Amino acid sequence: MLVFGGTGDLALHKLLPALYHLHREGRLPADMRIHVAALNDLQRGAYLTLAERHCRAQVARSEFALDTWASFAERLDYFSMDLSQSADFGRLAKFLGHSQQRGCIYYLATAPDLFEPIAEHLHNAGLAGANTRIVLEKPIGHSLESAQEINQSIGRVFAESQVFRIDHYLGKETVQNLMALRFANALFEPVWRTGHIDHVQITVSETLGVENRGGYYDHTGAMRDMLQNHLLQLLCLVAMEAPVRFDAEAVRNEKVKILQALKPISGLDVQDKTVRGQYAAGKIGGQDVPAYYFEKNVDNDSDTETFVAVHAEIDNWRWAGVPFYLRTGKRMAKKYSEIVIQFKPVPHRLFEGSQANRLLISLQPEERISLQLMGKSPGRGMRLTPMELDLNLAQVFPQNRRWDAYERLLLDVIEGDSTLFMRRDEVDAAWSWVDPIIKGWHESYQNPRPYPAGSNGPEQAQNLLERSGREWHD
Ligand code: BG6
Repeated sequence: MLVFGGTGDLALHKLLPALYHLHREGRLPADMRIHVAALNDLQRGAYLTLAERHCRAQVARSEFALDTWASFAERLDYFSMDLSQSADFGRLAKFLGHSQQRGCIYYLATAPDLFEPIAEHLHNAGLAGANTRIVLEKPIGHSLESAQEINQSIGRVFAESQVFRIDHYLGKETVQNLMALRFANALFEPVWRTGHIDHVQITVSETLGVENRGGYYDHTGAMRDMLQNHLLQLLCLVAMEAPVRFDAEAVRNEKVKILQALKPISGLDVQDKTVRGQYAAGKIGGQDVPAYYFEKNVDNDSDTETFVAVHAEIDNWRWAGVPFYLRTGKRMAKKYSEIVIQFKPVPHRLFEGSQANRLLISLQPEERISLQLMGKSPGRGMRLTPMELDLNLAQVFPQNRRWDAYERLLLDVIEGDSTLFMRRDEVDAAWSWVDPIIKGWHESYQNPRPYPAGSNGPEQAQNLLERSGREWHD
């Protein structure tokens, strides 16, 4: 495996710790080497020190052992290069030598504008043979047009079966459990549709700000960084039809149909159906937090959104008329990600105080699936109380280590299984829906709504639901 951008946050915080875990559990091929390429002029020893420091910080203390690290480090090598220089790829080919004949996975942990030149340079240096795979991090481009350009140039060098577009949300345990819940239990299927479901909420709320990614984030924003990919992928898994097989093509065929059925939001609808916000100064966990525009490498008159909420609709037989409320933001009150399936109330209320059922699928911090049912409180009379059927996955499987999404996905790339990766047409369909919303924002000349850091986002996001008598599950 060759990781481009090996000194960046993603490589140091996510990829190397994930590879370390896989190594520790004996899941990596014995002869697999991990080359890391980046611009910094570092010797291998200095890179290993840097990598060890980050792995120690990310890996639980009980899972980090010096001898395991030492054997993992034997797999690691560092190569200093300028990714924009074709001559450096010639040097890279020499450096890789015979090992390239054994096949190589290129992991592009870089900005998307480097995807095209890297693919081209790999090709010109003779490094893009049939026994290679390429992994691209989201977001793929910043619009439909740029994504198509990237996908076309990648497609000139690599066949679609060699391309793995990663969205780490698809590697999360509960996300896959959602598929098990839906497609391995007959119970929910008859009610999983319009007529029985009132609405769906998908929330990904973070307390972190942009940390040291201000330069990237300020050109990206919450819509492109999170909603276009992670939230839409979650929406697909909630809404898709059962695939005929659990394989890459069948699953992705069903997901793409949902993306293509999303009702377009453009023009004046954008004001009505979306809210974008930007965090102002506030407090999180008792700590003062500066406003977004004071973050490092962020323009101080930036109009980039750090929060977005959308009322989406799916124009198909199963979902007509069911709102899907999506929301994500940075510097919010709490870090959590969840999907709420809100069922309709019973058609005829026999008892006072009865509430509609709700299925809560919590991705993080806890991996939980809980179903809210109405029950009777003990004692005389029909006093009703909401009760939870609660499946906490950490309690059901206490002996199993919780895998990080990247571990699972890296192993899938190594094994060549692209079921949990985005196909090219999925990326196109997601951008086709997102582009007109971003355009509508720019045409309205309306700045993002400020919200205090440590809150649940701008109040306009509450209105998005309240005007139809609904509310966010906070
Ligand atoms: C990444 C985004 O894809 O997902 C980050 O670029 C975000 O901005 C992160 O913080 C959230 O991932 P998770 O797994 O912590 O919810």
